[in-house]
Formats: sequence, structure tokens, C-alpha cells
Amino acid sequence: MRKISMLLFLMAFTLVATLSFAVMGKGISLPKGWRSFVHVKSMVIPDKNHGLYGFHHIYVNQKGLETLKNGGMYPEGTVFVGVFYDVVTEKDGSINQGKKLFYVYMRKDKTATETGGWRYAAFDPDGKYLEKDVKKECYECHTAVKDSDYIFSKFIE
Ligand code: HEC
Repeated sequence: MRKISMLLFLMAFTLVATLSFAVMGKGISLPKGWRSFVHVKSMVIPDKNHGLYGFHHIYVNQKGLETLKNGGMYPEGTVFVGVFYDVVTEKDGSINQGKKLFYVYMRKDKTATETGGWRYAAFDPDGKYLEKDVKKECYECHTAVKDSDYIFSKFIE
């Protein structure tokens, strides 16, 4: 009997731990196939003091592509990935991307009610999850584009 209640306790503990992990976003991992997503756009912010410093490329998975082109609310499972690189000015004056700095990630998830129906996450260059207060450090800035379902990027042909 003791063994069974211990087992039940462990099962309940694991469940609660898994759920709170998911809510915090810790269970999120960088999608392995992000490099094969559709390239949306790129941007360079060369000012190191700017919060979005870097050479960045934005990608979207197939689920979100149609909405990105035509507008509206993104379907469940849409994923956007942004990859940030260092900004390197070459001797000939050209501006190139340097080493990878970090990744940002958004996935449409209707259970993410505190952050507008999107899960936000950031990863280091090796794809390791970075601890962030995503509500304050991500979502609040993205509310500026609530009308386009919290997505800044526009599709560029
Ligand atoms: C100061 C405002 C600001 C903050 C804070 C911010 N973002 Fe963004 N985010 C932007 C802008 C602007 C773009 C568009 C960048 C571009 O066009 O290259 C963007 C683009 C993105 C994209 C690509 C989809 C889109 O909206 O275009 C993702 C994914 C993303 N951000 C995730 C995050 C995550 C995760 C965090 C927190 C770790 C975060 N952002 C914090 C302003 C912000």
C-alpha cells in the first residue's frame, strides 16, 4: 500500500512538474528543421546599444506562410524563428554576418493566454533554452503589432 501511494505521489509530482515546465516555456526546444523554413526577411541593426542589435533573418514554417502573405490570424502550430548574428564590417566596407548570437522563437498556442496566444522563447547559439521573463522581455514589445497578430514581419517577395 505504501509503495502504491508513493508511486501515485511520484506520478502526480511528475505531471505537475511537466505541466509547470510547459507553462513556463521550459519544455520548448528549437525546431530541428528551422533552417528549411521559408525565409521571410532580413534586417541589420548595427548599433550595439540597440536592444535588437544584430544581423537577423526571420523564418516561418509552412503553417503560417499563407497568413503571412494574406493577413489574418495565424493558425495553431505556426512557428516563427529569428536568428541573430554579429554585425561585421569588412575591409572593403561591406557588412557581413558574424558569429551567431542567439535565436528567438514564437509558436501559436491557444493555451498561452497570458502572452496573446503565442509561446515565446529564446535560445543560445547551440540551441540551449535561455531563461527569460517572456511576458516582460518579449510579449510586451510585440503588443505594438497586436493588429497583425503580434507579428512584426511582413513577407517580402
Ligand atoms: C523592443 C521590442 C522587441 C522585444 C523586446 C522583442 N522583440 Fe521580437 N521582434 C521585434 C521586432 C521589431 C521584430 C521584427 C524584426 C525584423 O523585422 O527583422 C521582431 C521579430 C520577432 C520574431 C519574428 C516574428 C515577427 O514578429 O516578425 C520572433 C519570433 C520574435 N521577435 C521573438 C521575440 C522573443 C522570443 C523575444 C524575447 C526574448 C522578443 N522577440 C523580444 C521587437 C521586439
